[in-house]
Amino acid sequence: MTADLEKNFHLALEKSQNLQMLEELRVRYLGKQGMITEALKSLGAMDPETRKQRGAELNRLRALCQEALSVQKEKLEEQALTLKLASEKVDLTLPTLALQKGTHHLITQTTEEIVRYFERFGFKVEEGPDIETEEHNFNALNIPPHHPARQNHDTFYVDAAAEPLLLRTHTSTVQIRTFKKGELPLRVLAPGRVYRADYDATHLPMFHQIEGFIVEEGIHLGHLKSTLIDFCRAFFNKNDLKTRFRPSFFPFTEPSFEMDIFGNGRWLEVLGCGMIHPQVLRNVGLDPKKHQGFAFGMGVERFAMLKYEVNDIRNFVTGDVRWNRQMSVSRAFGT
Ligand code: PHE
Repeated sequence: MTADLEKNFHLALEKSQNLQMLEELRVRYLGKQGMITEALKSLGAMDPETRKQRGAELNRLRALCQEALSVQKEKLEEQALTLKLASEKVDLTLPTLALQKGTHHLITQTTEEIVRYFERFGFKVEEGPDIETEEHNFNALNIPPHHPARQNHDTFYVDAAAEPLLLRTHTSTVQIRTFKKGELPLRVLAPGRVYRADYDATHLPMFHQIEGFIVEEGIHLGHLKSTLIDFCRAFFNKNDLKTRFRPSFFPFTEPSFEMDIFGNGRWLEVLGCGMIHPQVLRNVGLDPKKHQGFAFGMGVERFAMLKYEVNDIRNFVTGDVRWNRQMSVSRAFGT
């Protein structure tokens, strides 16, 4: 009887290939109503001699089953763990993140291209705030309160109690901020965001400019022209690029010009420039007899659009990652 129980138990144990089957087996033999448990219960009805003998056999069998079950349980648990580890294995060599590598926005890249170029000639980068005073954006630049030039700027004003503040309409503000520091001579490049109430295929209400200016003794128009002609030829990778300077008007330069380049069979305006107006120098306490300078201001979007053939300025701000990635400039010059 005990021998049969033992034999059947071992057969069933061999067939228990997972933890659930093993548990079922345990319940079947050692559970509250398990076969061994029931057999032990029935001992009470037996005569003392048989009880003693059967009792010993059953207790031995119970201990044997418990031991066998716990050995098998450990084995199955280990197997399950090995399987789990194998199925959840992480391949650390898979290059998933590398595929998602980002790139700088075309505006950032173009700004860097331009800054790199001018750095070679000793220009240092200066920055100014986006929220400005009328003083820095207009007055000190020789644009007094009722000057018609203010209307052309489509200015965003910021509601402020004390003093009227505005979003700067150009980076020329950095000229004033830098001059006020009084360190001369200087060669400065001032990249940054500017704002005008304008929005269509060629205008954004927020765009980027780079202001460049030099104040040194003996600076003249020839320096301005050669600097900008050389720059445009380098930027557009065209040694024989045709350029022209058209007379223009800015209150803070005299004389003033628009610079055009020739491309695709037509003249394209690329920037405004001129010799710094003596009044601007006087406004910041400099002597125009001693110091002269030139200044230029260019739109980064415009330069990027011309060089990288972007036909709608709104592409810069739609935030389409695919476009940004496609416009990644491995074609950058001078890097
Ligand atoms: N600030 C001018 C503009 O935004 C550009 C400019 C800069 C012109 C410097 C002359 C000199 O239109």
